[in-house]
Amino acid sequence: MRRILVTGGAGYIGSHTIVELQQAGYEVVVIDNLDNSSKVSLERVEKITGRRVAFYQVDIRDREGLSKALTEHPCDACIHFAGLKAVGESVEKPWEYYENNIGGTLTLLDVLRKHNCKNIIFSSSATVYGDPVEIPITEQCPKGQCTNPYGWTKSMLEQIMMDMQKADPEWNIVLLRYFNPIGAHPSGTMGEDPNGIPNNLMPYITQVAIGKRKELGVFGNDYDTPDGTGVRDYIHVVDLARGHVCALKAIDRKCGLAIYNLGTGHGYSVLDVVKAFEKANGVKVPYSIKPRRAGDIATCYSDPSKAERELGWKAIYGIEEMCRDSWHWQSQNPNGYKDN
Ligand code: NAD
Ligand code: UFG
Repeated sequence: MRRILVTGGAGYIGSHTIVELQQAGYEVVVIDNLDNSSKVSLERVEKITGRRVAFYQVDIRDREGLSKALTEHPCDACIHFAGLKAVGESVEKPWEYYENNIGGTLTLLDVLRKHNCKNIIFSSSATVYGDPVEIPITEQCPKGQCTNPYGWTKSMLEQIMMDMQKADPEWNIVLLRYFNPIGAHPSGTMGEDPNGIPNNLMPYITQVAIGKRKELGVFGNDYDTPDGTGVRDYIHVVDLARGHVCALKAIDRKCGLAIYNLGTGHGYSVLDVVKAFEKANGVKVPYSIKPRRAGDIATCYSDPSKAERELGWKAIYGIEEMCRDSWHWQSQNPNGYKDN
């Protein structure tokens, strides 16, 4: 397998994955409508790897655009990151989320099969477990009720792809359920670049640390956790990116349908992350306790042993490196890619 189509490749996880793919010897073709990203991320990829990225500014809902890209660059597999991902926004704009994420993926799957590329790795999320019935969460854990339309798009797309694989066993489909990706490329030249007020913990912390925001609001300290704040399984984005390269091995083995958690297996509370960030970087992160955020659960962390057993993948970075690299990126690029 040589050439990989990467949808959403200009985004946070996609761009880091392209670095790992190119460094592992794959050729990469990127499709992105740049709705939530900048082409500068791809220039940074090229600087790190010294290799070109073929780029099409195309929407995954654009059948002709997708078809043209695949005709000009036939691909062996697709890694599908493209999608809208803001949980709160999805509650305000459910139609837009279902249309973009589900409509777009249906079009993509159809174009892929017409081009005889029936191999796909899909960015799913731990959110499909809902409020999990077991901790740590294994892939056997039943899926649960999502609390927002974004989460449902992931859950429904998993079901759609499972049904397609059952009907046509030529498909190889890997569903990767990410836990909480944070961190940035250790070079400090690539990272997460949210628009507006960040929804997620780490970008909020880095913006407080750099003085863009006054203090972090900690959403609740009365959960049933060791310090009362929410516990999550944070994973370094470079480890996550490497997970996709390993998942291509499952496709090489003609896995049919395969599902993997990508996490570290360790849970850290919000206050653990604040402390780890202050310690790793020698900067203060003022915070205050706020009410719980709607839809949040107390605890979510993975049992990632299936990915280690079957893919030979394991996260190698710890919370200290995640905090160090997030800060390195933010402090070197105070306005993300917008400075360029
Ligand atoms: P991101 O927003 O940085 O990247 C997504 C990319 O997809 C963006 O570059 C955006 O412009 C592009 N895109 C969106 N709709 C498109 C469309 N219709 N056509 C073409 N391109 C389109 O997000 P990310 O954090 O890199 O996430 C990548 C994937 O991983 C997403 O599917 C997301 O839902 C999933 N995921 C992310 C997290 C997380 O915490 N970041 C957790 C679990 C799953
Ligand atoms: N938190 C705060 N203050 C903030 C932001 C977050 O206290 O300003 C807390 C949250 O309450 C939670 C923890 O930090 O306890 C992590 O919150 P994030 O928003 O960073 O991440 P979530 O676990 O809520 O959600 C993430 C992704 C979703 C995905 C979900 C499950 O953003 O896309 O993981 O995989 F669906």
